[in-house]
Amino acid sequence: MEEKKPKLITSVSNEQRKIPPKENFSSKAHIKSEEEYNKIYQESIKTPEKFWAEKAKQLHWFKKWDTIFTWDPKNIKATWFKGGKINVSYNCLDANLKKIGNKIALIWQGEPENDVIKITYKELYNEVCKFSNVLKKKGIKKGDRVCIYMPMIPELAIAMLACTRIGAIHNIVFGGFSATSLKDRILDSQCKLLITADGGFRNGKIIPLKSIADEAISQCDCIESVIVAKRTKQEIKMEKGRDTYWDEEMNLVSNICKPEHMDAEDPLFILYTSGTTAKPKGVLHTTGGYLTYVYQTFKWVFDYHEEDIYWCTADIGWVTGHSYVIYGPLANGATTLMYEGSPTYPDNDRFWNIIEKFKVTIFYTAPTAIRALAKFGEEPVNKHNIKSLRLLGTVGEPINPEAWMWYYKNIGKEKCPIVDTWWQTETGGILITPLPGAFTLKPSSANKPFPGIEPAIFKEDGTEAAPNEGGYLVIKKPWPGQMRTVYGDHQRFVETYYSRFQGVYFTSDAARKDVDGDFWLMGRVDDVISIAGHRIGTAEVESALVGHKDVAEAAIVPIPDEIKGQAIYAFVTLKEGVKKTEKLKQELIQHVAKEIGPIAKPAKVQFADALPKTRSGKIMRRILKVIATGEGDIGNVTTLADPSIVDALMKDRQ
Ligand code: PRX
Repeated sequence: MEEKKPKLITSVSNEQRKIPPKENFSSKAHIKSEEEYNKIYQESIKTPEKFWAEKAKQLHWFKKWDTIFTWDPKNIKATWFKGGKINVSYNCLDANLKKIGNKIALIWQGEPENDVIKITYKELYNEVCKFSNVLKKKGIKKGDRVCIYMPMIPELAIAMLACTRIGAIHNIVFGGFSATSLKDRILDSQCKLLITADGGFRNGKIIPLKSIADEAISQCDCIESVIVAKRTKQEIKMEKGRDTYWDEEMNLVSNICKPEHMDAEDPLFILYTSGTTAKPKGVLHTTGGYLTYVYQTFKWVFDYHEEDIYWCTADIGWVTGHSYVIYGPLANGATTLMYEGSPTYPDNDRFWNIIEKFKVTIFYTAPTAIRALAKFGEEPVNKHNIKSLRLLGTVGEPINPEAWMWYYKNIGKEKCPIVDTWWQTETGGILITPLPGAFTLKPSSANKPFPGIEPAIFKEDGTEAAPNEGGYLVIKKPWPGQMRTVYGDHQRFVETYYSRFQGVYFTSDAARKDVDGDFWLMGRVDDVISIAGHRIGTAEVESALVGHKDVAEAAIVPIPDEIKGQAIYAFVTLKEGVKKTEKLKQELIQHVAKEIGPIAKPAKVQFADALPKTRSGKIMRRILKVIATGEGDIGNVTTLADPSIVDALMKDRQ
């Protein structure tokens, strides 16, 4: 009988704190109150086409669209602003020249303290036009795929904008990926050209990008030429006839390049999902809808005003970097900061140092970075004057209340709202988020849908869950920033996102919606643990563990249990200087029982000096499952930030 009931995901969180918006923030915000949001939201859902068309009109179009939105439910094909002609680099650069040509578009901070470059809109425009001509000279045309494998240097921003100017489709591969990962991504999208650098700085060391790229492209016949930016200046091999230097090419071209008139539905970029499982998927985004979406979300979610200095710490190799380091900010005429290096180099106060140095007002980072920095306590923060901050953000995974409160108190000094933004590579931009002048914040809740977005929590049978019942997070209707397909494999797109529930987008995340309509994310559906008929998401139990004073980070995975079906195996990283004792393990188990109930008590606890993470900071539970159960194959670890920790974890298995 039990089996036939629709399976729900049990929420075990009892976080109750509420932080109302502050008057001095709200009065200047784009959206000033929850009432105002409600009104905009209701309208946007009633007439989404009208809502999005009004937003799209804020951009520059060479020709207006024929239709705002079309949807073919049989083939799962959406179009936005079809027939409209637009260019992304034009909107990010040319459109800003007259009014703010001399404003700083990009502040670049290299890992070495003195490496700073400030680039105005006019200068960026010039560089982009020049590099567009370099691409053309190399035979790159509209629709060709160009791979970019670079460190976080200005040339990366220039290269991607130049691709959009001439209509080439960029495929940016994070500069921390291995030769194998790079090769797979180049081959899958058949790139003709690779843009890379001699190397990049990370933690004071050089990452030899060119030699990694050489290894990758030795197996890629599709690559015809390689352009190499000079960053680290160490010796590299250049293949004659194929490889040329960025600066030498730039000296040979003019700075005039007309932007290609792209159809709104022409592909803009391909970005491969981080690939914690099988073959990475080439997420394809198109031009007009994507730009409209990142433009509008950047403006409202970060409550952008023209005097802001905005810093998103994400690498441009991830979607957060595409949408909220480059395209969203530049389309709004913002000053965006790009940092090359590690958060803890040369010391653990580097982020706070940069905020002070450039008087950053909006700071957007990942929970994993917040937890890592909170480990060092308040002292590194208090060394700096970070009063310029007025808004904080997080993205990438659920943020546990403990880390949220630390961020709120110590970085935001209890005056900056935090926007906990939920979204995915596939969604193009932020879908569920606080609007900082309007919402009462709840630590660990991503609050409410952005206008025009209709999320819901579904039960197994596709009916909606009641308030606070955990289930599957879905998005009922398409939105402009949504991915259109998996590059070269539309069937995979349909199967992954549209076959679980007919006609609605399946996010693969577990979540609940509370009585106020606020969303709480509970982790990936595939990671849900089933204990004695209760299905528990990873996020809440991990968050209870991190709530213990000695714990820096935690990850839970299921192990088989004869009676309960599954039990919890917890990997726990302790704070600096805390001793690993049996007594502490017992204390942690009791702590979880007390915080969320005996049902969620870990059966086993293993102390781990570090957890296996992807290079974007996501915990790879697939690997932890193999370690915890002692069964299965660890598989491909090339996407791991530090593959060596797997052996250490294996050794300490409980
Ligand atoms: O599980 C959710 C988690 O990250 C996934 C998307 O990962 P990716 O495509 O790499 O994009 C990351 C940057 C947008 C989601 O399915 N996730 C992201 N943001 C949050 C989150 N989980 C909870 N809260 C968030 N704010």
